[in-house]
Amino acid sequence: MTDHYCVFGNPIGHSKSPLIHTAFARQTDQDIQYTARLVPHDGFALAVHSFIKAGGRGANITVPFKEEAFRLVPYRTPRAELAGAVNTLVVTGSGIVGDNTDGAGLLHDITLNLGCPVDGKHVLLLGAGGAARGVIGPLLDAQPEMLVIANRTVSKAQALARHFARLGKVSSSAYSELAGQSFDIIINATSASLGGEMPPLPAGLFSPHSLAYEMMYGRGDTPFITFGKGQGAARFADGIGMLVEQAAEAFFIWRGVRPQSAPVINMLRNADV
Ligand code: ATR
Repeated sequence: MTDHYCVFGNPIGHSKSPLIHTAFARQTDQDIQYTARLVPHDGFALAVHSFIKAGGRGANITVPFKEEAFRLVPYRTPRAELAGAVNTLVVTGSGIVGDNTDGAGLLHDITLNLGCPVDGKHVLLLGAGGAARGVIGPLLDAQPEMLVIANRTVSKAQALARHFARLGKVSSSAYSELAGQSFDIIINATSASLGGEMPPLPAGLFSPHSLAYEMMYGRGDTPFITFGKGQGAARFADGIGMLVEQAAEAFFIWRGVRPQSAPVINMLRNADV
């Protein structure tokens, strides 16, 4: 019998999740159907409950419903608690469990796919919104020498640094205060790229071995990646790897088999998403 999964979001037309999960299912011989569902802004809870009532086994949640999903579910995994957001629902006999695989996806991409260990490194996280918050716990778990959270609204970076302080070495900063420092890994978790912008970073943050990681993905270099290249960073990545890895983690939770992400990352790159 075919098991049903979906992704809820608004907008949803651009979602690559059906393509990714369908490829995982083919690869691992799992009998699932995965669809994208557009949810009205005031209709998230209804959409989830209707899907589950109709036999849905699990779902992914994307913008703008991750925080609402967090509030909706009766049970949450520790990493979802830390992230304050839920991107994966698992339907169990005792209720819906909310998980968050975004941070695990990012870490998997950086450490395994890109071969960049975080352990002992100086890491800079740009942004203090939902996307940034979702990855701080897993980043600190990987034991960087220091994680600096920089944000335009500094108070939000300060609040996050305070919230996560018990998990590792984390501090906050204004962009201008970063001058004179350099980082091994710089992750752009702001939404600035959506508007063709980037945070006002001082020169000199990248060293010749640094990784510039853009959590967004799309056609061509974002202003942040262009800046990193101009500043002499060694390596660059967009968010395609993270997208596929967070999906692989969700697929594993649902189906108990871990799909291979590399062929799916290649498929998406060749499809020029
Ligand atoms: P998301 O869920 O994508 O993280 P969000 O919660 O609205 O979205 O957060 C957006 C983040 O991008 C914030 O850190 C925001 O900075 P502020 O907190 O100061 O608003 C950051 N951001 C958005 N546009 C930006 C820009 N043009 N320059 C710098 N930072 C920007």
